Amino acid sequence: MNSELIRNDFPILKKECGGRPIVYLDNAATSQKPLPVLEAVYEYNTQGNGNPHRGAHVLAISASEAYDGSKEIVRRFINKRSPKEIIYTRNTTESLNLIARSYGETHLKKGDHIVITIAEHHANLVTWQRVAQKTGAVLDYIYVDKKTGHFLEKDLEKINKNVKIVAFAQVSNVLGIEFDPRPLIQRAHEAGAVVVLDGAQSAPHRRVDVQELDCDFFAFSGHKMCASGGIGVLYGKEQLLDDMEPFNLGGDMIEEVREQSTDFAELPAKFEAGTQNVEGAVSLEAAIRYLNEIGFDEIQKQERKLVTQAIQGMQQIPHIRIIGTENPEEKEGLVSFTVDDVHPHDVAEILSAVGICIRTGHHCAQPLHTYLGIYASCRASFYFYNTEEEVQYFLKHLRTVRSVMGYDD
Ligand code: ALA
Repeated sequence: MNSELIRNDFPILKKECGGRPIVYLDNAATSQKPLPVLEAVYEYNTQGNGNPHRGAHVLAISASEAYDGSKEIVRRFINKRSPKEIIYTRNTTESLNLIARSYGETHLKKGDHIVITIAEHHANLVTWQRVAQKTGAVLDYIYVDKKTGHFLEKDLEKINKNVKIVAFAQVSNVLGIEFDPRPLIQRAHEAGAVVVLDGAQSAPHRRVDVQELDCDFFAFSGHKMCASGGIGVLYGKEQLLDDMEPFNLGGDMIEEVREQSTDFAELPAKFEAGTQNVEGAVSLEAAIRYLNEIGFDEIQKQERKLVTQAIQGMQQIPHIRIIGTENPEEKEGLVSFTVDDVHPHDVAEILSAVGICIRTGHHCAQPLHTYLGIYASCRASFYFYNTEEEVQYFLKHLRTVRSVMGYDD
C-alpha cells in the first residue's frame, strides 16, 4: 500500500496540530473522508440535488437515480440478494433501534429470552433492555474471558430454545477482537432464534458476506468507512422485513392513505419515511467504490501491521495495560488500554497537545467496563491511511504520559 499516495486523498490529514500534521487514531469513532467522496457529494449538490421519489422534474429524477442507484453498490458490498433488503437509516444505532422496535417489541412475549454479549455497544444493549422491559422477555448475557476477550464457552449454552433473539457485534469497539460469529449464528438458528449482527466495527475493515454469514439482520454506518455522517444501513432478510411494522410513519413509505387507515409501501420504502439522505447515499456509494479500489486485503494487511507495531511497542512501556487479547492477529484495527494511575482523559489531553487524537471514556460500552473492573479506558484505532511513523510517534508520546503527570517511573 502506498500510504503517501493514499494520504494525499485525505485533506484533513494535512491539518497541523501540535506542530505537525495531525495523527488521527480515532477511526473507530469516525473515519475521515477522501477526495472522491467529497467530490461525489459536491457533484451531487451542484448538479443533481432534489427530493427523491417525489416529482417528475429533472432534479427530482436525478436525486432518485442517485439514491436508488447507490443501493446496488451497497447490495454488492455485503452480497445481499436483493436491494429490497437494504434499508437506509441514519447509522448503526438507528438500524438496531429499528430492529428492536419493529421486530423485537412485536415478536417477543413474556418469558422469551434475548441473548447479547457483555461487550456490546449501548446501541445493541439499551435497545434490548427496552424490548425486555416492554415485552417481559429476559435479557441474558454471554460473558467474555477477561484476558483474551473470547466468549466463555459455557455461556453459549444460554442460547437455547427459549431464545428468540441473539444480537452481538462482529467486532467489539473496545476489545477490538473479531468474534467468530458462525458458531453463535448456527446455535441461534438451531434454537429458532433470529440473529442480529452489529457490523459497525467490521464493515469498514473487512469483506462482509451476509449470505455466507446467514445472519438475519446486519447493521453498519457510513461515517466509519469514509462516507458522510447520517447514512447507515440495515440489511434484513426479506421475509422478516415484510412481516415487520414500519418504524417511522410519513411521506414516501405509503401505498395509499385514507382518512382512517393506510396501506404501506413495499420494501424498502416502508422503512424509509420522510425525505431521504441522498447526499449520504451518494457518499456511501463513493466510499465503497474507494475502499474496493484499495482492496480489503490491502486494508487489513496495513491495519494488522499497525496494530502489531502498536501492541509490541505498548508492551515495552511500563504501566500500560492492554484490554483484551494482546495477539495482534485477533485485533481488528484498534487497541484499548489504560495507563496506571492516570485518568484516561488526562492521557487523551497529553496526547492531543502533540497532535494525537485517541478516544477515551467508556466508549458507549459501560457494562463491559464495569465487568472488567475499570470505569474508562483509552483507545487508539487505526485505518488504512495511518502509517508506521504515526504509530511510532504515538508510542513515543505515550511513553511520556506518566512523567508529565509527575510520576518517576
Ligand atoms: N461507536 C463509536 C465508538 O466506539 C462512536 O467510538
